[in-house]
Amino acid sequence: MYAPTTMTDFNPSKPVASPVEKLKLEWAYGYRGRDGRNNLYLLPTGEMIYFIAAVIVLYNVDEQIQRHYTGHNDDVKSLSVHPDKITIASGQVAGHDKKEGKPHIRIWNSLSLQTLHVLGLGHFDRAVSCIAFSKFDGGQYLCAVDEANEHIMSVWHWQKETKLIESKTSADPVLACDFHPGDKNIIVTCGKGHISFWNFENNILTKKQGIYEKHEKPKFVNCIAFASNGDVMSGDSNGNIQIWGRGTNKISHVILNAHDGTVFTICSLPDGNFLSGGKDRNIIKWDANYKKTASSKLDEVYGSIRMLSCEKGSQIIVGTTKNNILMGSFDLQWSPVVYGHVEELWGLAVHPTQHQFLTAGEDKNVFLWDAHKHSIVWQKCVPEGAHSAIFHPNGNFFVIGLNSGRWIVFEIASQQIISSHTDGNEQIECLSFSPDGAYLGVGSRDNIIYVYNITEEGRKYSRVGRCIGHSSFVTHIDWSVDSQYLQSNSGDYEILYWNGANCKQISSVSQLRDVEWATNNCTLAFNVCGIWPEGADGTDINACCRAPRAHNLLASADDFGKVNLFRYPCYQPRANCHTFSGHSSHVTNVQFVHDDSKLLSTGGKDTSILQWNVSA
Ligand SMILES: *[C@@H]1O[C@H](CO)[C@@H](O)[C@H](O)[C@H]1NC(C)=O
Ligand SMILES: *[C@@H]1O[C@H](CO)[C@@H](O)[C@H](O)[C@H]1NC(C)=O
Repeated sequence: MYAPTTMTDFNPSKPVASPVEKLKLEWAYGYRGRDGRNNLYLLPTGEMIYFIAAVIVLYNVDEQIQRHYTGHNDDVKSLSVHPDKITIASGQVAGHDKKEGKPHIRIWNSLSLQTLHVLGLGHFDRAVSCIAFSKFDGGQYLCAVDEANEHIMSVWHWQKETKLIESKTSADPVLACDFHPGDKNIIVTCGKGHISFWNFENNILTKKQGIYEKHEKPKFVNCIAFASNGDVMSGDSNGNIQIWGRGTNKISHVILNAHDGTVFTICSLPDGNFLSGGKDRNIIKWDANYKKTASSKLDEVYGSIRMLSCEKGSQIIVGTTKNNILMGSFDLQWSPVVYGHVEELWGLAVHPTQHQFLTAGEDKNVFLWDAHKHSIVWQKCVPEGAHSAIFHPNGNFFVIGLNSGRWIVFEIASQQIISSHTDGNEQIECLSFSPDGAYLGVGSRDNIIYVYNITEEGRKYSRVGRCIGHSSFVTHIDWSVDSQYLQSNSGDYEILYWNGANCKQISSVSQLRDVEWATNNCTLAFNVCGIWPEGADGTDINACCRAPRAHNLLASADDFGKVNLFRYPCYQPRANCHTFSGHSSHVTNVQFVHDDSKLLSTGGKDTSILQWNVSA
């Protein structure tokens, strides 16, 4: 890499401070319904509480305001609301953090968002997968189940931060635990092949296995709830609901085939009625005599019912396995209030002139979002998993790169596909338009950059050449300001330069040292080399992005769930930066909106999209 010729005083050891600007989490898009459980509740503040990645979201739908608890440093797995309806317990998986990276529980106040207690650092092995406050005694106890092999359940006096007792539950997965609301010291757990009734007294835990007798024993017991008369209800993988007589481990009643397939959730109402939801997408209301009184089916696009929650007289909220949250009632429509991706997410692009952005994921979903309204503008399905996205500089079209080498051009106004092309037969890793809108560079997993010439204002694409030279997949492409040159990075950390119009490689690199680049998406380049941390192995940074208007900031997305903010240019080795948490897996992309006021980041496995406010 060469420094620009104008830079005569380059001193790599002169430290540069972090920027004055910082990021503040403004919005978290998504909900972990895919594999989460017992993870969506209503609070008296009118907010719903749920989590995505490492963020716990408190979302007031009427006022369109989100607040966030960001004390966790990796995936949140479990959530419980204290009977005071203010105190929250949340449990996480093992993470990267040096100090608090082991799985643990955080107890916090949902009004002030202050952390009150951190429990269990060093006690849990894999993840705190189930968690529940006691209810009968005003909520002094907390039980938690570790996801590790023996599924150890522990009971804590959370205010004293002490573990009272623990016990192995089952070699098989445990899916839920809860305290009985009316009977002191009774805990119920359920999971693969079991439901267990525990009694803990004088710090001794004793277990009674639920007995099925003549009834069909299910493969999984997926959920538990408590009827207003104190009976325990359970839902299973055969679609049946069992009623366990209060204080017993015996079935007093079975609702056979309540659902077609697994019952994922049961929600007990104070008047003796209860709701159930399951794989069949049905939401069913039952009366105290187990008669069905209402039923409603969700549209297929939302997936199965993961979680139902409701407070007296208010609306029902529904969490789904496709990471949607809907609100409604049996008389009204179910309207979606939260959308999200369900599989690995890499594709992110920002609109050149408006506060809109695109995301495209492995789940074949393409969303066009409004960053002001925090909602979707529209959603499309593409035929295969998507990995990359880009807007045409005129703002009227966008391109989505798919897994098979295919890429598709959409017209925004008509929401229609206007053309589709295929280059090679491997994933399209990255896309970049020249700033004049005349060329598109298509970077493939097959090591080639395919360059297209664009006419008819962004409608017609003709291939002008193939840039062949990289010896690994193409990861990033930038065009020069004059739309003449390309710089590109590949999976084996090469930086190559090309003439855009004929795809000829330019090997005399020093010749391009003064070229101005329209974007700084390449993670390997002189002006961004400071983003690489000490000991980085080359795969640690997935993306970077320069503030497009002021050119004063550079953001990077790393493999440890962090979004980092640097001053631009950033050529001091291991430059100082601010680091922001929220994602739980590798952060796959970062992009500033066109006026630098916000930054968007996408999580790979965590499937979340975080929107940050940028300000000093
Ligand atoms: C590259 O950066 C520009 C400007 O920040 C952005 O608009 C574009 O979407 C980025 N491209 C990719 C492929 O991320
Ligand atoms: C771009 O495409 C148009 C129409 O196909 C053609 O006339 C023009 O010569 C092409 N330009 C380049 C540089 O290939």
